[in-house]
Amino acid sequence: MTEIRTPRLVLRRWLDDDLVPLSEIHADPAVMQSIGDGRPRSLEQTAEDIEAWEEEWDEEGFGMFAVELLGSGEVVGAVGLSVADAPTEAAGQVMISWRLGRVFWGQGYASEAAQATLEFAVQDRHLDRVVAVCRTGDRASMNVLDKLGMQSEGTAQHPVHGYDVAMFGIDLTQYQE
Ligand SMILES: CC(C)(COP(=O)(O)OP(=O)(O)OC[C@H]1O[C@@H](n2cnc3c(N)ncnc32)[C@H](O)[C@@H]1OP(=O)(O)O)[C@@H](O)C(=O)NCCC(=O)NCCS
Repeated sequence: MTEIRTPRLVLRRWLDDDLVPLSEIHADPAVMQSIGDGRPRSLEQTAEDIEAWEEEWDEEGFGMFAVELLGSGEVVGAVGLSVADAPTEAAGQVMISWRLGRVFWGQGYASEAAQATLEFAVQDRHLDRVVAVCRTGDRASMNVLDKLGMQSEGTAQHPVHGYDVAMFGIDLTQYQE
């Protein structure tokens, strides 16, 4: 069972009890505006997301982590790896992404979890490269990407949802913790 501890967080696979707290995070329009179609997701859709992430863990050996606060055990959100399906330029590549509940923003949790995810990618999964795709203008994600040392790789248009996205990549063969 994959479980990673950082100074303040636990990154782990999904449990049944995570559905309600994650669906509360997914119900917040501010959290979801830069993800997928930009709309909040229902409890049922959140259950589908968790199921898909768990399938990816089983099939690929990586996936989105449930992120909980060390100590309280509160679910902070989801950070981790997935195989990108869009935009075309990123499709098929391993992508890092994040979403945290609004009350947890601005405390460095996304950066802490993302750093641990990259370390997992290189040390545990021996991946050579990870990409990221974020909506242009998503300043918080851009700052996290910058802190991770991810390099800009241009822009594209999301083929389904139409908005502009910025693409990033990191060569993990050169990765320095
Ligand atoms: C993106 C997100 C995960 C960042 O989480 P976080 O824990 O607040 O991020 P961190 O605290 O690790 O770092 C964010 C950095 O950006 C800064 N920042 C946060 N919000 C910002 C904003 N709206 N504008 C500019 N900078 C911002 C923070 O100050 C921090 O920089 P610092 O460490 O130099 O102070 C969180 O905002 C979120 O869940 N957003 C909604 C989901 C989302 O958009 N996901 C990305 C889809 S591609």
